[in-house]
Amino acid sequence: MTALLEARQVRKLFPAGGRSGLLCAVDGVSLALEPGQVLALVGESGCGKSTLALMLAGLERATEGQVCFAGEDIAGFDRTRLKALRRRIQVILQDPYESLNPTMSVGQLVAEPLLVHGLAEDRASRNAQVTQVLEAVGLTPAADFVHRRPHQLSGGQRQRVAIASALVLEPVLLVADEPVSMLDASIRAGILSLLADLRRERGIGMLFITHDLASAAFLADRVAVMYLGRIVELGPVQAVMSAPRHPYTRALLEAIPVANPRQRRPRALLGGETPNPAQIPAGCRFHPRCPLALSRCAEFDPLLTLAAPGHQAACLLVEPAAGQ
Ligand SMILES: Nc1ncnc2c1ncn2[C@@H]1O[C@H](COP(=O)(O)OP(=O)(O)OP(=O)(O)O)[C@@H](O)[C@H]1O
Ligand SMILES: [Mg+2]
Repeated sequence: MTALLEARQVRKLFPAGGRSGLLCAVDGVSLALEPGQVLALVGESGCGKSTLALMLAGLERATEGQVCFAGEDIAGFDRTRLKALRRRIQVILQDPYESLNPTMSVGQLVAEPLLVHGLAEDRASRNAQVTQVLEAVGLTPAADFVHRRPHQLSGGQRQRVAIASALVLEPVLLVADEPVSMLDASIRAGILSLLADLRRERGIGMLFITHDLASAAFLADRVAVMYLGRIVELGPVQAVMSAPRHPYTRALLEAIPVANPRQRRPRALLGGETPNPAQIPAGCRFHPRCPLALSRCAEFDPLLTLAAPGHQAACLLVEPAAGQ
């Protein structure tokens, strides 16, 4: 099966201070998104999640490697095909207040993408589509919302408007970059279940970026763990959560607070220096912070290895699955 969207050995370099004058935000990532599937991308701040997402959405060019949509490298797309791609892949950002034009009403905000893409035949059909998507995202009755402006909405309602203006273009993939991290805990669950409904009812695939492994577990089929520009573990979400193979994934899981203080696990929080993508360590890039590092970890850069069916990790200590 051809993947809907695929990164092949994608790298992204940015200008930076320091000796080389470059930093490597994404360093050779290969990843496939299948139609209708949800892939969560997790990792510490600065590990390259947003940069990878922007390249996958065709909004930032890869320095090396390819991003393929339905098997074709998007670098070769002309304007018409890029526009079609931008319709099919919709991006939802962390802060809906920044992405929503404050001078427009909710009705205008949701109708705008239809106009930009030349999809609004007449006012009546446009209004009908706006009403339909507003109700689909839980802003009901739509008539109560169409005339409001972003500042007259709560954070959760604003994020629902952002989702509605993505949905109106009938995307096949949503790239959601920390869509709930700015919201109060009490409204996060509502937005997460909305995303789960959209996936179930409309078959929309998602790249869901989060710091929060619990929301990844709720929404995703698979999870990719990113460290300093690389994917270090990738697998079915239940397998990664219950039997993590990479020491970095284990550290992330151990850092999740436990609700019952009597069950508190020993916290093996990550020590060492905060990683810097302008100075990537030789060998395994995680070795300076790894509690299990051996001397060979400073020499060899581990590749992703199949540790169990569909479950890969990039660690020299991983036992390859039988038959590898
Ligand atoms: N336009 C840019 N120019 C220079 N450096 C950049 C640019 N965009 C990102 N970076 C750097 O690339 C690295 C990865 O950044 P990125 O925003 O992709 O990380 P992230 O995983 O999304 O972090 P966060 O969780 O904080 O959103 C960081 O070191 C960042 O400073
Ligand atoms: Mg980011």
